[in-house]
Amino acid sequence: MQIPFYKPSQLSSLILFILFFFSHRANAFGTMGPISASFGEYELFCSIDASGKQDVICWGKNITSPPPLPSSSYVTNIPAMAALSGGEGFLCGILANTSQAFCWAATSKQNADPVLVPSVYRSTAYSHIAAGKNHVCAVRGSYYADRDSGTVDCWQITKKNGTLMAVLSESFEDQSVTNLEMNRVVSGEGFTCGGVRDGGLVCWGPNSTNLKVSNVSDSFAVLAAGRTAVCGVSNISGDVRCWGDIESPSTEIRLVSLSGGARHFCGVREDNHVIECWGNLNSSLVPKGNGFMAIASSDYTTCGIREVDLLLDCWLVNASKPDFDPPLELSSPGLCRSSSCEVNEFDFNVSVLNEPDLTSLCVRQDLRICSPCGYNCSQGFFLSSPCTQNSDRVCTACSLCQNSSCVSVCRLHSSTGFLHWHHIPRWVFIIGSSVFCFLLILICGCIFRCLVSTRGQQHGTKKQSKSCIGKMEQEDDDVGVVNGNGLLHTSPSVASCPGLPQVFRLSELKDATNGFKEFNELGRGSYGFVYKAALADGRVVAVKRANAATIIHTNNRDFEMELEVLCKIRHCNIVNLLGYCAEMGERLLVYEYMSHGTLYDHIHGGLSPLNWSLRLKIAMQSAKGLEYLHKELLPPIVHKDLKSSNILLDSEWGARVSDFGLLTSSDKDLNGDLESDVYSFGIVLLEILSGRKAYDRDFDPPNIVEWAVPLIKQGKAAAVIDRNVALPRNVEPLLKLGDIAELAVREKPSERPPMSDIASWLEQIVKDGLIL
Ligand SMILES: *[C@@H]1O[C@H](CO)[C@@H](O)[C@H](O)[C@H]1NC(C)=O
Ligand SMILES: *[C@@H]1O[C@H](CO)[C@@H](O)[C@H](O)[C@H]1NC(C)=O
Ligand SMILES: *[C@@H]1O[C@H](CO)[C@@H](O)[C@H](O)[C@H]1NC(C)=O
Ligand SMILES: *[C@@H]1O[C@H](CO)[C@@H](O)[C@H](O)[C@H]1NC(C)=O
Ligand SMILES: *[C@@H]1O[C@H](CO)[C@@H](O)[C@H](O)[C@H]1NC(C)=O
Ligand SMILES: *[C@@H]1O[C@H](CO)[C@@H](O)[C@H](O)[C@H]1NC(C)=O
Ligand SMILES: *[C@@H]1O[C@H](CO)[C@@H](O)[C@H](O)[C@H]1NC(C)=O
Ligand SMILES: *[C@@H]1O[C@H](CO)[C@@H](O)[C@H](O)[C@H]1NC(C)=O
Ligand SMILES: *[C@@H]1O[C@H](CO)[C@@H](O)[C@H](O)[C@H]1NC(C)=O
Ligand SMILES: *[C@@H]1O[C@H](CO)[C@@H](O)[C@H](O)[C@H]1NC(C)=O
Ligand SMILES: *[C@@H]1O[C@H](CO)[C@@H](O)[C@H](O)[C@H]1NC(C)=O
Repeated sequence: MQIPFYKPSQLSSLILFILFFFSHRANAFGTMGPISASFGEYELFCSIDASGKQDVICWGKNITSPPPLPSSSYVTNIPAMAALSGGEGFLCGILANTSQAFCWAATSKQNADPVLVPSVYRSTAYSHIAAGKNHVCAVRGSYYADRDSGTVDCWQITKKNGTLMAVLSESFEDQSVTNLEMNRVVSGEGFTCGGVRDGGLVCWGPNSTNLKVSNVSDSFAVLAAGRTAVCGVSNISGDVRCWGDIESPSTEIRLVSLSGGARHFCGVREDNHVIECWGNLNSSLVPKGNGFMAIASSDYTTCGIREVDLLLDCWLVNASKPDFDPPLELSSPGLCRSSSCEVNEFDFNVSVLNEPDLTSLCVRQDLRICSPCGYNCSQGFFLSSPCTQNSDRVCTACSLCQNSSCVSVCRLHSSTGFLHWHHIPRWVFIIGSSVFCFLLILICGCIFRCLVSTRGQQHGTKKQSKSCIGKMEQEDDDVGVVNGNGLLHTSPSVASCPGLPQVFRLSELKDATNGFKEFNELGRGSYGFVYKAALADGRVVAVKRANAATIIHTNNRDFEMELEVLCKIRHCNIVNLLGYCAEMGERLLVYEYMSHGTLYDHIHGGLSPLNWSLRLKIAMQSAKGLEYLHKELLPPIVHKDLKSSNILLDSEWGARVSDFGLLTSSDKDLNGDLESDVYSFGIVLLEILSGRKAYDRDFDPPNIVEWAVPLIKQGKAAAVIDRNVALPRNVEPLLKLGDIAELAVREKPSERPPMSDIASWLEQIVKDGLIL
């Protein structure tokens, strides 16, 4: 199975051009937060990490830190920070230990001065800092002192002889303003605006007159500056008001966090923490399903800290994906402070990160991170628990809605939901299909018993008497023990019984795999590692753990969508999903454990080579698994990577198809994709028949199709048969298998039979039996 993957944008050169093109217009926007960006030519994002040390992590077009860092890196040795603010080509912060200001260049070899703070201000403690295009303003006062306000110091950052240096500023020496007590400041291109302690907003600096801020008496709970504009959320009306060359957003929605770019602003909605942006940008590129804790913008890029996992996610104003990826380190969800949280805030509880050694995200135990409570969820999710003092409200995917409490909200938005059966209220669906399944089980059970008794007599084996339906009933408490020989043609409706996945705790899965220790690894796929896990209840399961690349390229919404599809898939010839875990940056899928390993390891590797009757059964069962994906699911699922190493054998040697993709019928050439699955299946049949690998240099030709098909066509199929296993007395069934394989690997896709035909032919072969 493959998680959808965003291809890196091809627009990197264009973006680089844009940045260079605009760089002479010099944009710089400072808004203090746990994440910030430097602007212009040297676009660099930095955030405070979630290690408890308040270390700074940075990423940009040419760099990601930490590791691996190029030796010439400019982002080394940035001390622990309480807060960050980005200017043009440089960033500033307030030191976590002393509240002093500290600024650094976004590129190496540009700092003439190690801290970019004039010596007269170096020992001053600041509570707020705001870097602009080429100036910095900061509010005096200890960062951690409660509700501090103070007077403002400003200085200039200038480039001399190619390096940056800090000098005292004249253009920001406005006595009427700098003597005011302010509680916060933001800076843009040639201006700084500050919230006055007793209410009101004032702006100063050479370009401040363009903003036309005058006689503003509101206080602003949130304030942000863009290149030539400033926006704030009034704490009286709750509205967003903007000044400068950007319109105020028309929305009535309350925002709790703001960031400004060259010509756009984005904010985090108070209700569901989803992003709202306005100004010059393509809104279809803004992430929709995810909530964010904090955001920051450079000219044309905005990055945010996702609330579900504290991972960083970035988007551009007009191109599909930034040409750089943020690192996988978790970021601090907010700024550390000493005052207690307010009514509509929650105190971030570090225990949700499941890091036993971590007791706080702040350098001091008396500090805390308070974030605004959400009280609603984005579309496709329902509110499963409200905000408390120590945790935000929890949103759960509508696919996991199990009772009437969430039906109304999930139904309300189902019309634009992403899967067709969302149109039906989920509980109607569950009850409806349960009743239907129950009836079906009764009916099928009856027919089945008759069938089994005859077949039992025919074959004289008890093993074959088990059915998919029997399995469905037991599956949840008897994983991997029940055999799915699937001799009965599986009814499509069995598959539609919704299997509700279990939600596992990360700690539970960590314990079950001995902390994801290597000796528990079963393999490695494109998705990540697969571990064998022994759960506390005694069940043995397989855990797929997404790797860094998968996580960073998949948002939570994609993961939920994938889960939703996987939950629908239930078949005795498929490796079924049992549950999942999506805690703090991890993506884990829990599957049935297949104790007999892969078909590949049996026919090509060191494991027992499998006798002919088992091989025929495996061929038939894997055909049924694939037929199920192709025919019985709507939309059909194309496997895309069928091979003998993706056919697993359960504890009773039942064959199970695994690792399928999630291509749906919306894909253009569905038939072509299905036909290519059939081709891959033909190769598996040839491997089963010949015991040789799909590509093997010891054979001439090395390609199994080029080698086997001419022999089969010439009536010399016997030459293809694996001689490492004793031949049955009657080789007729094996020759038939060869004929089916030959059809499946036909060069013309349209000549290949559908999986349903192949499955029924193979079923007939198995039914006729082998004379050993
Ligand atoms: C980033 O790398 C590109 C080429 O890889 C180079 O042209 C550009 O100058 C670099 N930018 C910075 C800020 O170092
Ligand atoms: C504060 O941190 C800086 C940078 O890590 C360090 O140089 C300085 O000595 C520290 N100051 C105090 C008082 O701990
Ligand atoms: C300017 O840079 C040049 C070469 O990089 C150096 O030789 C010179 O001393 C620098 N001048 C000043 C004032 O720093
Ligand atoms: C003022 O704005 C103009 C145009 O937006 C810009 O070119 C100039 O650099 C700004 N001044 C300062 C001091 O940043
Ligand atoms: C400022 O606003 C107040 C009321 O909001 C008004 O009375 C006053 O005249 C205004 N002053 C100016 C200079 O606009
Ligand atoms: C708005 O902010 C001011 C100053 O920060 C504060 O005194 C006032 O109580 C606030 N008003 C509301 C409604 O929150
Ligand atoms: C916005 O982006 C989407 C997705 O990349 C694209 O399909 C659409 O054409 C863009 N719209 C505009 C107006 O550029
Ligand atoms: C993206 O936006 C920039 C600045 O507004 C513009 O110059 C550029 O042409 C845009 N690129 C695309 C692909 O629309
Ligand atoms: C944080 O969560 C843990 C586990 O859920 C709980 O035991 C602890 O009391 C919480 N901490 C606070 C300060 O509420
Ligand atoms: C929650 O959000 C949905 C839209 O996603 C909206 O229709 C609904 O009214 C909101 N509920 C509350 C209580 O705000
Ligand atoms: C409904 O299901 C949710 C989980 O989906 C659960 O938390 C809640 O307690 C259930 N409510 C009732 C009334 O059963």
